[in-house]
Amino acid sequence: MTVTTIQGALEQATRQLTRAGLVGARLDAQVLLAHILGVERSVLYAYPEREVAPALATQFFQLVERRSKGEPVAYLLGRREFYGLDFIVDPRVLIPRPETELLVEAALTQIRQKIAADALPIVADIGTGSGAIPITLAVEEPRLPYLYACDISADALVVAQLNCQRHHVAERVRLLQGDLLAPLPEPVDILTANLPYVGTEEMQAMTHDVSAYEPHLALFSGPEGLDLLERFCRELRQSSLLKPNALLLLEIGYQQQEPLTRLILELWPQSTVTSIKDYAGWDRVLQVAMQGRK
Ligand SMILES: C[S@@+](CC[C@H](N)C(=O)[O-])C[C@H]1O[C@@H](n2cnc3c(N)ncnc32)[C@H](O)[C@@H]1O
Repeated sequence: MTVTTIQGALEQATRQLTRAGLVGARLDAQVLLAHILGVERSVLYAYPEREVAPALATQFFQLVERRSKGEPVAYLLGRREFYGLDFIVDPRVLIPRPETELLVEAALTQIRQKIAADALPIVADIGTGSGAIPITLAVEEPRLPYLYACDISADALVVAQLNCQRHHVAERVRLLQGDLLAPLPEPVDILTANLPYVGTEEMQAMTHDVSAYEPHLALFSGPEGLDLLERFCRELRQSSLLKPNALLLLEIGYQQQEPLTRLILELWPQSTVTSIKDYAGWDRVLQVAMQGRK
């Protein structure tokens, strides 16, 4: 390979990614080059004439090639920032989304209210993936002695374990494998879940980098995306896993607020359901406050 500079490498990569139809071609090229060079992106602006060693240029263009086929940047880097924390991600887990930070924010508010009222809540997360939700809660609220983090995917839990170690919460986040609520050993005060909620009918409309690369077990849940969330609610109602006045926080999909609120009020007529909207204005998180027992 001929000697190239930062500017030259970026221009060539941007052209290649643009030809591949990627909207953020220049930004993707910068992020990938900064990653390969082990520098902040600002360094690329400061030293455009600096030479890129041939071995590094080769690695960079290999990543550009993979990106041009649609592989998500987070998988290429092996990391994604969530709530200010750096999470290890790979194709075994969903890439954590900014919308999920809303659920974390709401959970933290509730956890802190309970702690302020002198009650250390028992917290569990179902469908934990990379561990983004429970690990962030454990890091942000060190007074929580422990939390449960459950997933049906043993592969996802391997990644969650790495993230627990990275954030020094492996002693407090208890990873459990199994279907929905089955692994939970005790009733909880706060239950969070970002379960798959995309309808298989929507698969065609999804961007290629999501549908071709992210685990389908983490994305899809029946024709309208409601199957798993509905089963989760029904099984929760049948269980004894909610402590009195428990709180449920569910991330939900596009147009799922109405059917799920209806189901929840049918199952728990005394509960109060509120919805939190995401940055695009869609109902994204359902917050269900239970009254009394169950
Ligand atoms: C949408 S991803 C969410 C991952 C993570 N909580 C996040 O917010 O980034 C859904 C997760 O639910 C898990 N899952 C799918 N079906 C499940 C089931 N029946 N029981 C438990 N977890 C399940 C998937 O393996 C996946 O990790």
